[in-house]
Amino acid sequence: MKFVRKKENTERYVDNIFSVVNAAKADPNGINATAGCLYDEEGKLFTFKCVFEEEAKIPAARRAAYASSPAGNSDYIELVSDFVLDGRVSNHHKAIATPGGTGAIATAVSSCLDEGDHIIYPKIAWGNYKVIASEHNLAVSTYDVYDLDDLFEKIDAVEGKVFLVINSPCENPLGQAYSLDEWKKIIDKLNSLNKEAVLLCDIAYIDYANGDPKAYFSLFNELSDNVLVLLCASCSKAFSYYGQRLGALIAIHNDEGFLDHYINLCSRLARATWSNLNNAAMINIAAVLKDRREDYERELTAARKMLKDRSELFIRQAKDCGLELYTSCDGFFVTIVCKDNASRDQFHQKLIDAHIYTIKVNQGIRVGLCSVPLKTVDGLAGRIKELM
Ligand SMILES: Cc1ncc(COP(=O)(O)O)c(C=O)c1O
Repeated sequence: MKFVRKKENTERYVDNIFSVVNAAKADPNGINATAGCLYDEEGKLFTFKCVFEEEAKIPAARRAAYASSPAGNSDYIELVSDFVLDGRVSNHHKAIATPGGTGAIATAVSSCLDEGDHIIYPKIAWGNYKVIASEHNLAVSTYDVYDLDDLFEKIDAVEGKVFLVINSPCENPLGQAYSLDEWKKIIDKLNSLNKEAVLLCDIAYIDYANGDPKAYFSLFNELSDNVLVLLCASCSKAFSYYGQRLGALIAIHNDEGFLDHYINLCSRLARATWSNLNNAAMINIAAVLKDRREDYERELTAARKMLKDRSELFIRQAKDCGLELYTSCDGFFVTIVCKDNASRDQFHQKLIDAHIYTIKVNQGIRVGLCSVPLKTVDGLAGRIKELM
C-alpha cells in the first residue's frame, strides 16, 4: 500500500453500531435499542437542564478561544478530579483533560505501551478496545468478567508489563460490576506482582450505578509501587455531553515525582494529537461542578432512577419468560446470552425484521435500555423471547 504506514490495519473499518443505528432511525415503527446514549421517556436525548443553562451563559469570545493548555484548563482539571475521586483517594494523583473517555483510554495506551506489548480487556466488551489495541499493534488477551480465576490466569500469562482494562461498574455491554471484595482481590493480585502493572479503570458509566460504586477507590490508597492506576472518566455519559468531547485521565501512584513525569508525557501526547480541547465545554463543566452541584446531583438521581426502572422491568420480565441474560447490576445496557456468534447473527436479523433494533456483541445481543422508554420496555423481553 502506498503513502500509509507499513503497519496499517487493512481490514475495512465498518462501524457495525452506526449502520444498525441508522437503520433504526429510519424505521418509524421500530424499537431503537441501539443507542449508547441516555434518552428520556419521551424518546429525546436526555440532557441535564443545569448543564445547558450554564452553557448558555458563556460569551462567544470565551467559547471561541483556545483552552489554556494542551492538558486542559486547570480549574476544570481540579474540579473534575474532585468530582470523580469524591474524597476517596488520599494517595498522590494528577490528571489531564481529554477528548471524552475515549481520549483518556487512547492516551493511557499510547503513554504506557509499545508495539507488541500486551493489553488485557474483557471478552465481552466495548468494541472500541479492540480498535485501539489494533491501532497500537498490541497483543490482546481477554478475560471472563464473571470469573476472577480466569482474569488472574490471563494476568499471569503476560510476559512483561501488565496492562489491564476493567470497565466496572456498568460494564458495556453486560452491566456487570465487581463487588468491593472482588476489587480487593484484584488490587491484591496486582500489588503482589513482581513487575509493573497498569490498571486502567474505564469508569465511563459509574455515575449511573446504584449503591456506593466508588467504594473501591479507597483501595488506591494501598497500592504497591509497581502499580499505576489510570481512571478514565467521560463527560459524555456523566453530563450527557456526548458531542462536546470531554473527559479526564486521572493517574494515581505512590510517587508524586513519577506522576509529574507521567502527566508531562501525556501533555506532550495531547499537544501532538488534539493539541487543545473544547474550551467552552471545560468552562461549562467546571461551572456546573462549582455552582450547580446540587442541581446536577438531583437531575442525575432522577436519570439513574429512570434507567433502573427500565432495567428492573426488563430483567424481571426476561426471567418470567425464560430469556437468558448475562448477570447485570446497573448501566445503560443488558445483554442477551447467545454463545454461538453464527446463530446470534441470524437472531439479530430476525429482530431487525420484527423492527427491534439491537447491537451484536461477542456471544450476545446488547439491548440498549438507555434509549427505550419504560412503556416500550414493558413486554419487550417477551417479544424477543418469542422471536428466539
Ligand atoms: C465502555 C466505554 N468506555 C468509554 C466510552 C467513551 O465514551 P466517550 O469517548 O464518548 O467519553 C464509551 C462510550 O460509549 C464506552 O461505552
